[in-house]
Amino acid sequence: MVSSAACFFFFFFFSRLITIYFCFSPIAHARHPVTRAPDAGDGCVCKERDALLDFMRGINDADNALASWQWEKDCCWWIGVTCSSNRIRMAGNVIRLELSEASLGGQVLQGRMSPSLSSLEHLEYLDLSALVLPSINSSSPKFLGSMTKLRYLDLSGCLFSGRVPPELGNLTRLKHLDLGNMQHMYSADISWITHLRSLEYLDMSLVNLSMVAPGWPHVLNTIPSLEVLNLVKCTLPSTPQALAQLNLTKLVQLDLSSNRLGHPIQSCWFWNLTSIESLKLSETFLHGPFPTALGSFTALQWLGFSDNGNAATLLVDMRSLCSMKSLGLGGSLSHGNIEDLVDRLPHGITRDKPAQEGNFTSLSYLDLSDNHLAGIIPSDIAYTIPSLCHLDLSRNNLTGPIPIIENSSLSELILRSNQLTGQIPKLDRKIEVMDISINLLSGPLPIDIGSPNLLALILSSNYLIGRIPESVCESQSMIIVDLSNNFLEGAFPKCFQMQRWRILEANQSLLGSYVDLSWNKFSGTLPLWIGHMVNLHFLHLSHNMFYGHIPIKITNLKNLHYFSLAANNISGAIPRCLSKLTMMIGKHSTIIEIDWFHAYFDVVDGSLGRIFSVVMKHQEQQYGDSILDVVGIDLSLNSLTGGIPDEITSLKRLLSLNLSWNQLSG
Ligand SMILES: *[C@@H]1O[C@H](CO)[C@@H](O)[C@H](O)[C@H]1NC(C)=O
Ligand SMILES: *[C@@H]1O[C@H](CO)[C@@H](O)[C@H](O)[C@H]1NC(C)=O
Ligand SMILES: *[C@@H]1O[C@H](CO)[C@@H](O)[C@H](O)[C@H]1NC(C)=O
Ligand SMILES: *[C@@H]1O[C@H](CO)[C@@H](O)[C@H](O)[C@H]1NC(C)=O
Ligand SMILES: *[C@@H]1O[C@H](CO)[C@@H](O)[C@H](O)[C@H]1NC(C)=O
Ligand SMILES: *[C@@H]1O[C@H](CO)[C@@H](O)[C@H](O)[C@H]1NC(C)=O
Ligand SMILES: *[C@@H]1O[C@H](CO)[C@@H](O)[C@H](O)[C@H]1NC(C)=O
Ligand SMILES: *[C@@H]1O[C@H](CO)[C@@H](O)[C@H](O)[C@H]1NC(C)=O
Ligand SMILES: *[C@@H]1O[C@H](CO)[C@@H](O)[C@H](O)[C@H]1NC(C)=O
Ligand SMILES: *[C@@H]1O[C@H](CO)[C@@H](O)[C@H](O)[C@H]1NC(C)=O
Ligand SMILES: *[C@@H]1O[C@H](CO)[C@@H](O)[C@H](O)[C@H]1NC(C)=O
Repeated sequence: MVSSAACFFFFFFFSRLITIYFCFSPIAHARHPVTRAPDAGDGCVCKERDALLDFMRGINDADNALASWQWEKDCCWWIGVTCSSNRIRMAGNVIRLELSEASLGGQVLQGRMSPSLSSLEHLEYLDLSALVLPSINSSSPKFLGSMTKLRYLDLSGCLFSGRVPPELGNLTRLKHLDLGNMQHMYSADISWITHLRSLEYLDMSLVNLSMVAPGWPHVLNTIPSLEVLNLVKCTLPSTPQALAQLNLTKLVQLDLSSNRLGHPIQSCWFWNLTSIESLKLSETFLHGPFPTALGSFTALQWLGFSDNGNAATLLVDMRSLCSMKSLGLGGSLSHGNIEDLVDRLPHGITRDKPAQEGNFTSLSYLDLSDNHLAGIIPSDIAYTIPSLCHLDLSRNNLTGPIPIIENSSLSELILRSNQLTGQIPKLDRKIEVMDISINLLSGPLPIDIGSPNLLALILSSNYLIGRIPESVCESQSMIIVDLSNNFLEGAFPKCFQMQRWRILEANQSLLGSYVDLSWNKFSGTLPLWIGHMVNLHFLHLSHNMFYGHIPIKITNLKNLHYFSLAANNISGAIPRCLSKLTMMIGKHSTIIEIDWFHAYFDVVDGSLGRIFSVVMKHQEQQYGDSILDVVGIDLSLNSLTGGIPDEITSLKRLLSLNLSWNQLSG
């Protein structure tokens, strides 16, 4: 599958519109089986083996993930089970039960959770994150409260419902508690947490905490050992107050995303915790100025503050935040000047400091989209921030030319919807995604476009002239080519025929899945080899000056969703054999479709809508996921003759068929 390698990691963590919850724990934990031969005769304790077997009876192990759990075998050697090894020639106790997707090779288990697990009195580590309970109604297991030796408990994604059992407060040795991603759970009183004096990791994402008292930060403040706190989408009540004394000095990761806190940023309780490395506050609707304290968060690597409703301002000097890897501020600032803002970011080379003395930064992901920013993009932005890999300045009010990107680290440049002028510069070899649509760019494309690694080239709605340079053909993995709504001319680009495109086909590449050349001045006949572009899903050629017949080979495009030739000068008959357009016949969701969907999902920042907005006359119409539902053929406004093939009725998914303004009969 094609995916944008360099920046991929960041897409996952900072996708703005779609919040992804992970079912795996970020702490890697390898299984450490005891070094004892299975036939040594000192098997597990019978009572514990029976408890495990009882637990297994409650599980529908369709994929045989627990095949090693056999009565006659030493349970210390069963998959996921680890025994204590400190006894010689005596039975070992089960101290660790790890049924995570990772430990089971990606399998998940369905079933219920048997209370017999509480017989595993010596258990220190319990990970049941691979367990999926079929009914969301299974109430959460209170018996866990008696397993007081537990240090590690991961029930993430198990789909319990009901109240988080306060009995968990009895597990006073817990260091790691993951109750994240369990929809339909709630807790109205979290004071049981205060008993967990050794807790280092707490994830209660998606647990409904709307009923907890607004003083909830005080509760957490009693656990000075906390290092990681994830409370994503918990409907937390707003708490605009500082704490008299902050004990959470070890906190390095705080994620409060998707809670409508809605108070001034400055009155957050955590601004004294300057050792935080990861701070995620997207969709919290915090507003007002950032406190100057932010400038002393020198350990900060990730700051996620997206989609907060454009009511924040950021005037803090962040130049000393040299650990910063990712800064996501999309859709949050009320106004600002791009030059001033970039000046305040951690720099490698500052204007008043020569390059060799400058401190190199690690800032690699920068999203300032949708922030009402004005000004000229600093032309050297990709050099002053030398590690910059993903830059998104889309939907602002930026002017001036496209910054210089040759020889930079940039692999994704998204400048959509601004007022940029000038010509498109030579790109860089590293560029994979380039979206500069809806700007005021003019002139021809560079003859040497300079990037053989392009996955998406989106230049729509500018004032570009001339022909498509041959160098575009060097991009072997192109998925999206959108050149629509410009003044480009010449024939249908010959390079789309390149031999290697067909080699890639065999590799199930998604090459050329989306081609939009509409609203230009392309001319000539449609090439016969168009039928070789079997991975095409969308082909928009409307409003050009193509003439001649529709090549019969077009019916080879079995993945075609949408095909438009409207407003050209196409003559002759509509090809029969249209039933070969299987995508238009088939069922709604095919495997191919889903793969295709995810490939796009990877390329762009988690949001299909962004890249797939269909741009018509400078108006963005965002399709998002529903792009998959757009199935149609538009041949209107041409000079087609002859009859309408009966076969067209077999294209059951066809939502729109427009044959108007032709000279068809029958
Ligand atoms: C869940 O359980 C409650 C009672 O405990 C019952 O009223 C409700 O219908 C159940 N819901 C489902 C979806 O089974
Ligand atoms: C756990 O703590 C509660 C009080 O918080 C107590 O009533 C209960 O007996 C304890 N033990 C278990 C096994 O839940
Ligand atoms: C959370 O719980 C409250 C009170 O029970 C309820 O009104 C609210 O709808 C719940 N929120 C979600 C997201 O389930
Ligand atoms: C933490 O801070 C609170 C005040 O917010 C204080 O009462 C408490 O003693 C501190 N220490 C611990 C370990 O809770
Ligand atoms: C937080 O830091 C400020 C100075 O930055 C200080 O005045 C204040 O007392 C600190 N508050 C706590 C709770 O440590
Ligand atoms: C820059 O680097 C020097 C030496 O490596 C260090 O002393 C200085 O504190 C750094 N400056 C910043 C702003 O991090
Ligand atoms: C962009 O700037 C122009 C001129 O300064 C202004 O008229 C316009 O309202 C701005 N547009 C947005 C979306 O901020
Ligand atoms: C990029 O690097 C090449 C080779 O080092 C050099 O010739 C070229 O001038 C550089 N381009 C820019 C814009 O710095
Ligand atoms: C096809 O895939 C193989 C391995 O999956 C890879 O080595 C090869 O380079 C690919 N071919 C092309 C043309 O990308
Ligand atoms: C349409 O194509 C025919 C040739 O097929 C040509 O004679 C005619 O001039 C074209 N019309 C326009 C408006 O381009
Ligand atoms: C069919 O195409 C014509 C010409 O392009 C257009 O005016 C008309 O609105 C289209 N009809 C439908 C139903 O889309």
